[in-house]
Amino acid sequence: MTQNPSAQPAQSPFPQASIHVATTSRSYPIWLQPGLLAQAGERLASLLPAKRAIVVADEAVWHRHGQALADNLAAAEFSFHILTVAGGEGSKSYSQLEQLLERALALAPDRQTAVIAFGGGVIGDLAGFAASILLRGLPFVQIPTTLLAMVDSSVGGKTGINSPHGKNLIGSFYQPHAVLIDPTVLTTLPHRQLLAGYAEVVKYGLIADPDFFAWLERHGAAALDGDAAKLCYIIERSCFHKAAIVGQDEREGGVRALLNFGHTLGHALEAALGYSDALLHGEGVAIGMVFATELSQHLGLIAPEVAKRVRQHLTAVGLPIDHRHLPAVAQDPQSLLTLMATDKKAVAGRLTFVLLDALGHALVQRDVPSATVSALLAVERVDGRCLAD
Ligand SMILES: NC(=O)c1ccc[n+]([C@@H]2O[C@H](COP(=O)([O-])OP(=O)(O)OC[C@H]3O[C@@H](n4cnc5c(N)ncnc54)[C@H](O)[C@@H]3O)[C@@H](O)[C@H]2O)c1
Ligand SMILES: [Zn+2]
Repeated sequence: MTQNPSAQPAQSPFPQASIHVATTSRSYPIWLQPGLLAQAGERLASLLPAKRAIVVADEAVWHRHGQALADNLAAAEFSFHILTVAGGEGSKSYSQLEQLLERALALAPDRQTAVIAFGGGVIGDLAGFAASILLRGLPFVQIPTTLLAMVDSSVGGKTGINSPHGKNLIGSFYQPHAVLIDPTVLTTLPHRQLLAGYAEVVKYGLIADPDFFAWLERHGAAALDGDAAKLCYIIERSCFHKAAIVGQDEREGGVRALLNFGHTLGHALEAALGYSDALLHGEGVAIGMVFATELSQHLGLIAPEVAKRVRQHLTAVGLPIDHRHLPAVAQDPQSLLTLMATDKKAVAGRLTFVLLDALGHALVQRDVPSATVSALLAVERVDGRCLAD
């Protein structure tokens, strides 16, 4: 099945899908199909300039799922090497990038040798950045293995590493030649990681697709509990939205900024906690989406009912909704305000939020009064309720 992001996706779950991403720099397919790993070689042979590849794999993912990929690349007569990298945010560093570049160069690639990222968002961001600068750009393929990477980071071409000055500050826009998603690899993903990726799924419903949000309210928990068809459907619908948004605005000059819904507070919380395991990115986004929705309500943009639905759904699936339950360092309103004003997406220190003016419709709001934000930061949420309401 082929979809064009300009058309609305159908309503029912699909066992397989192909979504086309059309950006100004490159157009490419997202192939989504259970069992796709065992077809990766044939698929890629049809699309890449040569059957030569360097697979950059998350060590743990390679251990669990690498054989299926390696067997199939070999069957399709690829000549390939595997470079494993330790999982985790620490790998998005100068030193890991340098090591990866040197290990790749030692394999004497030419301009037709593809880099294949096989792992979560960390590997995709690191390998994608390496691909963009090796020999001034090698063909690049994403095979995402976390829900977050499937529904968000593998699509859209943002690559990069972290600097001591902050996350993702060194990088490039570099679109892949293809994204291959085999949802069966999610069976080994820890549930907490699955849930964190699900926060980004909910985001698409809230900013762009009210019917999808309503579907998630009914079926999201089943998808997270392992209903493969439903999980496939949420990946497909999420990719559809990511592709549509990136297709309109590759370099975040406009509508792509709406994807930062929930991220203003989310990023501040992650920064306050030093990007540690105390808070996964998606967990920060969940808390941030609740906050941004309540802010929208307080600014008179939406009815309280919308904020209530968001809190209730996130709570029902097991995502956090309140930063007040995090370690103390992530609770101080003044330091959170400072972090939000200095976020790399903020302009000239003004507090910028993506807000909702309807369920399924978002806007960028600059100069949100810090007193309003501060007052809302002091409020607690318990059992899906906001105690200020
Ligand atoms: N480029 C973008 O547009 C974009 C968008 C969102 C996030 N990101 C980046 O993505 C990164 C986070 O990505 P992530 O959440 O995928 O984290 P991750 O890559 O660190 O993976 C999370 C953990 O899951 C493990 N894992 C991965 N796949 C697995 C599987 N199938 N089975 C078992 N374990 C598995 C990894 O080893 C790791 O320990 C951040 O660095 C963030 O900045 C980038
Ligand atoms: Zn995110």
